[in-house]
Amino acid sequence: MFVALERPINLQDGYRGTFQVQRRHLLLIVVDQQPILMENRCPHQGAPLHAGTLEQGMLRCARYGVALDLANGRPVNAPCPPLQRLTLTCDGDRIGLDL
Ligand code: FES
Repeated sequence: MFVALERPINLQDGYRGTFQVQRRHLLLIVVDQQPILMENRCPHQGAPLHAGTLEQGMLRCARYGVALDLANGRPVNAPCPPLQRLTLTCDGDRIGLDL
């Protein structure tokens, strides 16, 4: 089942959108013109990531400052699991995910 999240025309650098899909809190961001969909949950202690800062391909959690490498989801400066990323798909004029 396809769940539409956004129109591709709206996905510009700096975009941030939060969504709830089947009780999962998701964050869609665009970095270097690439949309990235992830759990809106820091793998360190679970803080929402939508308030984090973006710099040089890293998303830094606003709570304790763990930096997550968006290329691979791995934390740079903390011994915690990687970020949970989800695969985006397109259906017509919408981007979203398949469940
Ligand atoms: S919850 Fe994000 S750095 Fe700890």
